[in-house]
Amino acid sequence: MQSLRYIHFLVKRRTISSFHLNIANNIHYHSTMAAEEAVFLDYKKNTCQYKGYRHAAHAFIYCKMATSNEKMKHAVMMQLRFDGTLGFPGGFVDGGENLENGLNRELYEEIGLSQANHFNENDYFGSWYHEHISLMDHFYVKKLTENDFVKLEKRTLECHDWGGETMGIIRVPLQESSKNPKFYGLSQFFQHNFIGNAMHQLIQVLIEKNILPAVDVQDASVNRDQ
Ligand code: APR
Ligand code: MG
Repeated sequence: MQSLRYIHFLVKRRTISSFHLNIANNIHYHSTMAAEEAVFLDYKKNTCQYKGYRHAAHAFIYCKMATSNEKMKHAVMMQLRFDGTLGFPGGFVDGGENLENGLNRELYEEIGLSQANHFNENDYFGSWYHEHISLMDHFYVKKLTENDFVKLEKRTLECHDWGGETMGIIRVPLQESSKNPKFYGLSQFFQHNFIGNAMHQLIQVLIEKNILPAVDVQDASVNRDQ
């Protein structure tokens, strides 16, 4: 099961405490079928086992907000896709390309990522193996400066795939609210439809990169679980 493998992976990497592991486990237990079918693994250490699959690479791009919005401590980029779902920018890696080159090409086409912000191996987060569609989906995470992040948001309107594959980039609503549950915007956001296991990817990175406290992510996920 995807959740157990993921938790095992985190334990090995010692990246989150056992308290946070329990919360992550709880959230993963309530995941969608598509996400449950996906297996999280460190592809870079198992490359030779997965020859013959299609490969895709997607990116979690975020920044810490300095002053512009006191309620929102981080900005995380997602997009409305051509198929009506929410997902992360990126796409299929072409034959002959390595993962990072394919990702950087897709990010240039979809959101106009500049060469200065290109992804490299150090930004690799992990991969999901989707057996039912023979897809290996690789995931990268990069933190930009607030200035670079905002510039990138503005450039998306001029890039090749705008209005075709990319129907709009969005910021994930991570603002704190005086209402209960604490992360009101995020809890509503989780009601949308996500491509593949993009909601899982969002949850995992929010927790693992300490963008939000794990308990708050859990609070926000309560509506989705019901
Ligand atoms: N989790 C799991 N799978 C995902 C995720 C995700 N977060 N995001 C995308 N996928 C899957 C998609 O379902 C798709 O099968 O990865 C594959 C490739 O991702 P895309 O971003 O859709 O690929 P891209 O190269 O940008 O565009 C695909 O296919 O149908 C055509 O017209 C469409 O031009 C588009 C092309
Ligand atoms: Mg794409």
